[in-house]
Amino acid sequence: MSGWPRPGTVYLVGAGPGDPDLITVKGLRCLEAADVVIHDRLVAPELVARARPSAVRVNAGKRPGGPSMPQEEIHRVMVAAARSGAVVVRLHGGDPFVFGRGGEEMVALASTGIPVEVVPGVSSAHAVPACAGIPLTHRGLARSFAVLTARTCQEGSLQAQVAALGRPDTLVALMAVGVLEALEEALLESSWTGGTPIALVERGTTPEQRVVVTRLEGMARVAEAAGIRSPATVVVGDVVALRAAIHTARSPPFREGRPWPVAAEGVAVRAAEPLGTQGRSVIQVAAREGDA
Ligand SMILES: C[S@@+](CC[C@H](N)C(=O)[O-])C[C@H]1O[C@@H](n2cnc3c(N)ncnc32)[C@H](O)[C@@H]1O
Repeated sequence: MSGWPRPGTVYLVGAGPGDPDLITVKGLRCLEAADVVIHDRLVAPELVARARPSAVRVNAGKRPGGPSMPQEEIHRVMVAAARSGAVVVRLHGGDPFVFGRGGEEMVALASTGIPVEVVPGVSSAHAVPACAGIPLTHRGLARSFAVLTARTCQEGSLQAQVAALGRPDTLVALMAVGVLEALEEALLESSWTGGTPIALVERGTTPEQRVVVTRLEGMARVAEAAGIRSPATVVVGDVVALRAAIHTARSPPFREGRPWPVAAEGVAVRAAEPLGTQGRSVIQVAAREGDA
């Protein structure tokens, strides 16, 4: 593609879920040609470093509950940079159109007449479970999945949102840390049973990845005991049980090690040896005896 990326254009690029190698080839080409890069907080620093030394870097830094660059300011910076003839990359965590503000940015840019192009990214919604060894669908076990944000603007709307989804075979919840108790309650009041397998994947796809496996009832308590922090992805459904296969498929095999120091009451929690060469830690939280 000669003459690409084009000056005076804004590229909404997905950076992928955390591992800097999970950006697309097109996204990286765009980034390496950018004059101005406006990036999210969760974008890997290694990726931001791939921009040219002369590129202007702007951290739009959206922190959960903390200060961030107002969306209007992001629009203003993108428009001003594009009007000056720059190649502008707006680098989003994951995919720009999955619980990002990529859609809003596209609409705002289009209203000013600035050319905008979307370069999709690998979303944490599917890549984080995948890198934790959890397929979202599996023949004979799961034929559908749904993704929801657990952060809602209105009180009580999480319950309504969960109910409106019906009963997908697999449910993925993003932005759930901090509202795990409400999510657990909403799922139990909907059509999910207390024994449904759950995985909480913190910092998925990165060397700091941690996986906590438990059951729906008591999930929030277990997550708190294990110190799960944002960013984390919650996977709900029978497919979670399939991740046990990676323990036997990888070399060296998964081995349970020393007990995790903050075991929840009545629940056996163990830390594991790092998986393979990737140095990711796994915490297996066994269901209590008798749990279905
Ligand atoms: C504002 S949403 C943005 C999602 C992003 N657009 C995408 O497609 O992945 C941020 C949420 O994505 C999830 N997330 C992002 N990166 C993650 C990671 N490395 N590990 C686990 N969850 C992650 C978390 O639930 C986090 O709260």
